[in-house]
Amino acid sequence: EHVVHPYHLAWPHSGPFSSFDYASVRRGYEVYKQVCAACHSMKFIHYRHFVDVFMTEEEAKAEAAEATINDIDDKGQPITRPGALTDRLPSPYPNKKAGAAANNGAAPPDLSLMALARHGGDDYIFALLTSYFEPPAGVKVDEGKAYNPYFPGGVISMPQQLFDEGIEYKDGTSATQSQQAKDVATFMHWAAEPFHDTRKKWALKIAALIPFVAAVLIYGKRHVWSFYK
Ligand code: HEM
Repeated sequence: EHVVHPYHLAWPHSGPFSSFDYASVRRGYEVYKQVCAACHSMKFIHYRHFVDVFMTEEEAKAEAAEATINDIDDKGQPITRPGALTDRLPSPYPNKKAGAAANNGAAPPDLSLMALARHGGDDYIFALLTSYFEPPAGVKVDEGKAYNPYFPGGVISMPQQLFDEGIEYKDGTSATQSQQAKDVATFMHWAAEPFHDTRKKWALKIAALIPFVAAVLIYGKRHVWSFYK
């Protein structure tokens, strides 16, 4: 099978003790909301997850309230209502079948865990989103599909999504294609691994304790075995 491995990028969060860049996570959410959410769900992410991560509680409430949520009322009748912190991010299609029907037969996968689900992780997502090219001679690309060397097989049912200045960032960062790809990949990694920073903080604490524990154990061992000398 035709597979091109993504190149490795210097992600700010890739070091053993580095945290996410939360300004980037926040911009990545803007990309997800304005571009990707038209076709992809993130059904494991709730608005409450944003609180104290890249939004205040007030901001997250306002963000949720902008969304229209399908629900049922007390009598079991379908209604729509503004979102609350306890809601999931809205899904664009009611089910996979509807998603496939709207996208030439390929359902857009849920993106909640995508940053960890695919080989190459963040590097793969960045490479995929920034690598739409003319197909090389001999590669047949059907109507509604696109050539992308990073997608296994080389032909993907997702057309190019990111364009320079395709959106405008609230924080004024210039929204080049690569900036958007970096930010949305960072947002997706945070979504897939929200405990990432806590994990690395514990790794640092435990790494810092190892010399002391080692010293005590070595001293103790020598003490216990000293009568053999
Ligand atoms: C697949 C990301 C926007 C339609 C995918 C995949 C990723 C992804 C990571 C999985 C590739 C794989 O299976 O390895 C994104 C991101 C977006 C975005 C980050 C926003 C920047 C969209 C939009 C549409 C769309 C707006 C619809 C117009 C699809 C479809 C697939 C797909 C149909 C399945 C492709 C296939 O299996 O051939 N997307 N996507 N995506 N996406 Fe998107």
